[in-house]
Amino acid sequence: MCGIVGYIGNQTAKTVLLEGLRRLEYRGYDSAGMAVYDRDGFNVSKKSGRVANLAMEVGKRELEGSLGISHTRWATHGGVSDSNAHPHVSSDGKIVLVHNGVIENFGDMKRFLLTKGYTFESETDTEALSNLIAYHYEKEGRPTNGFSRFFMAVRKALRHVEGTYGIAALCVDCPEEMIGARKGSPLILGVGQDEFLLASDVSAIITHTSNVVYLNDDEIVSVTRDKFQISTSSELGVDAIIDTVNWKIEDSEKGDYPHFMLKEIFEQPAAIENAMRGRFSDDGSTANFGGWNLSPHELRQIDRILFTSCGTAWHACLVAEHLIERFARIPVEVEYASEFRYRNAPLDKNTLVFVITQSGETIDTLGALREAKRKGYRTLAISNVVGSTIAREADGGIYQHAGPEIGVASTKAFTSQLVIAAMVALYVGRLRDMSFASGVKMVEALKELPDKIGRVLKQNDHIKDIARRYAHYADFLFLGRQSMFPIALEGSLKLKEISYIHAEGYPAAEMKHGPIALISEDCPSVFFASNDEVFHKVISNIQEVKARKGKVILVHAESCDVPEGLVDDAIIFPDGHEAIIPILATVPVQLLSYHIAVERGCDVDKPRNLAKSVTVE
Ligand code: F6R
Repeated sequence: MCGIVGYIGNQTAKTVLLEGLRRLEYRGYDSAGMAVYDRDGFNVSKKSGRVANLAMEVGKRELEGSLGISHTRWATHGGVSDSNAHPHVSSDGKIVLVHNGVIENFGDMKRFLLTKGYTFESETDTEALSNLIAYHYEKEGRPTNGFSRFFMAVRKALRHVEGTYGIAALCVDCPEEMIGARKGSPLILGVGQDEFLLASDVSAIITHTSNVVYLNDDEIVSVTRDKFQISTSSELGVDAIIDTVNWKIEDSEKGDYPHFMLKEIFEQPAAIENAMRGRFSDDGSTANFGGWNLSPHELRQIDRILFTSCGTAWHACLVAEHLIERFARIPVEVEYASEFRYRNAPLDKNTLVFVITQSGETIDTLGALREAKRKGYRTLAISNVVGSTIAREADGGIYQHAGPEIGVASTKAFTSQLVIAAMVALYVGRLRDMSFASGVKMVEALKELPDKIGRVLKQNDHIKDIARRYAHYADFLFLGRQSMFPIALEGSLKLKEISYIHAEGYPAAEMKHGPIALISEDCPSVFFASNDEVFHKVISNIQEVKARKGKVILVHAESCDVPEGLVDDAIIFPDGHEAIIPILATVPVQLLSYHIAVERGCDVDKPRNLAKSVTVE
């Protein structure tokens, strides 16, 4: 989704901004732009399409300024065009603004501003805010307690905004000041050596500094060449905490891999190792979580757990449901965050609310978390991004430590969420009925996981060969039972999002209640099976597909006794404990989707219409 980079320092802003925008490309966008304060005013360039188009445009200009703001836009209000791209300059030429989020009352603002003589060139909500800041700057702005007239005008204008924003702004009269603010859309300040950067996420600034201030909602920061000052809507000058980011630059680069997605699939053994590191008890029978913020006694009072999330993370919730009910015997419900936040669901008093989110910024998940907190429920978050809004707002949490996930299609973040779900099931199970011996077995199984995933990854060439033979199909079904059902959903989502092939996931037995009508030689099915109590049922479901001439790829555990000649293609994963089987079954379909998408010539890391971090509703 939209990305912001702002710069003030000693370097050429144009170069820093372009590099930052390239590092934000993974978030998904459709146009890009920048404004550099050069000589006596703004030099603004905006282009629809890739950052490369913008780079060509600004490449033609002699821009030496060392103050600038830039943006990648993912269209919400107004189509994809050069004029709708950000930055937006106020009609009096005073203010230039980039904005993430949605200004819900921009219609009212616009009507008001038209009466005051301001004009509009774009269809965006952002232009209303740049004009509103200009209005306050001209009409009422005055310096206060060491804060500039520009700063006071931004602060005043933001009071009128209904909706969400992350912004960076410049004023033509202030060549030494950049302002940032956030409410609902992430914004961080990078504190470098003689330079400051504003950005939507760490990846844009990591080559400059690892010292960052995570701005909170309602905070507004004034950044000059030698200092920054944070305020809120009610207080001028508040304390700031500078955190250190422990990413390495290589973590956010492709290295020798052709795509981030493939790199991240291959990083899974390490990501899983990191998710487990230091989190098993000394006696090897349970898990420990530092940031849980809930005593064993409090946890024993919990009667029910609600998991809520979006997309792939929602699939992780479904696996968590299966594992927690199976091993900890606590009833679990799973809700889409976008539905939960508006549904006003009655929850039992002793419900624990868990959210799972790679980015920690997904607006629907954040909305659901806030709704649960408002109602007084204890909330926990499983998240990959340290310092993200959700990680900070939940009462407690578990970091995934999977490292930055740049590919839009989630891979290593998903499997590391499944590992943490299994560890939560283990921990809560051991507080209840799970025996010491069962706990030890589960811990041992989890420890074997990185090695077993490594064995699945060795089949990359075999999976690539299968992908080549199936890449031309227009429709797919993904079918699995029990904990394999969420993996069927995840497999179908992976395939559709990066290859644009229509795919549906169902519980295998549900097929007979409708989807079987789709089966023909033109619609292959991907089945999942492990050596469990439903294995023979899955084989019967496969027979039903074969009887209707459907092609079948079976992703199955090594010891499954698959009837000779039944399936067209098979991908085998190592046997293991029930808690790790969904993880092992996931990796083959990540590779299958990846290779099918590559075979079809799709832009795997930047699939059309998609954004990595979905910060609008
Ligand atoms: C799909 C994918 C998305 C995300 C969803 C939630 O591959 O990545 O479906 O899972 O947008 O994102 P997070 O986990 O950041 O809350």
